[in-house]
Amino acid sequence: MEVVVQKDADSAVNLTARLIAARLDAKPDLVLGLATGRTMERVYDRLVALGRSFKRVRSFNLDEYVGLAPEDPQSYRSYMRQHLFDRVDIDPENVRLPEADRPDLKEVARRYEADINAAGGIDLQLLGIGETGHIGFNEPLSALMSRTRDKTLTQSTRQQNAAMFGGDPDRVPPRAMTMGVGTILDAIEVLLLATGEHKAAIVAKAIEGPITSMVTASALQLHPNCKVVLDEAAASRLQGRDYYDWVFQNEPDWDEFR
Ligand code: GLP
Repeated sequence: MEVVVQKDADSAVNLTARLIAARLDAKPDLVLGLATGRTMERVYDRLVALGRSFKRVRSFNLDEYVGLAPEDPQSYRSYMRQHLFDRVDIDPENVRLPEADRPDLKEVARRYEADINAAGGIDLQLLGIGETGHIGFNEPLSALMSRTRDKTLTQSTRQQNAAMFGGDPDRVPPRAMTMGVGTILDAIEVLLLATGEHKAAIVAKAIEGPITSMVTASALQLHPNCKVVLDEAAASRLQGRDYYDWVFQNEPDWDEFR
């Protein structure tokens, strides 16, 4: 894992978007794993501004709320259309989110995994982190080898995501379909972005704590090519900060991003 700390959220967002753009430059038919949440809104704004073509990109989103139709304004598909898909030249045929409004969720999950495999696997998986330590919607106690399936959300996640539902946590669907932790770990490269003081405690647990299903983001410690981009606030509880900065200054892979 490599941890890069930027001076503020703008710089962290900018670095994340530039990294994605660099991967698109290297592989125009990139298989991109996409994330949602407020943090990512800024990444998509920046990425759109960087003006790359998504014509040959295939994308798989991490998750979707169970029971919401794709056209529901609160669905993650609507979120993705608003923040990215409708603003770039991506082919709608190449865009996938779990079809979590279908009756047979087991079949939806099986097909989602099969589609990822058929695309050759995910080249770059973008991630945020929830305050429960979730990646995707892999809430505490999600098996670290889990695959795409439906999960029950914690009340704390429903609270955090309530803004999209008129501020009322009870209107946040109680269940979601999500790639599993194992699905995420299969991506060739993983890029997690977290900003803000409210993420500092869970970020420290995920990066420097034990690997535990109580904090599913901690499983990223097992990934051979995982980058974590933070702003100062989100990094404020890390112990090994000096070393992370030293690595960033010295690793040749970061030359074009410093
Ligand atoms: C949702 C998504 C997660 C994301 C999290 C972070 O819960 N399912 O994939 O990591 O939001 O949200 P925010 O960026 O709003 O803090």
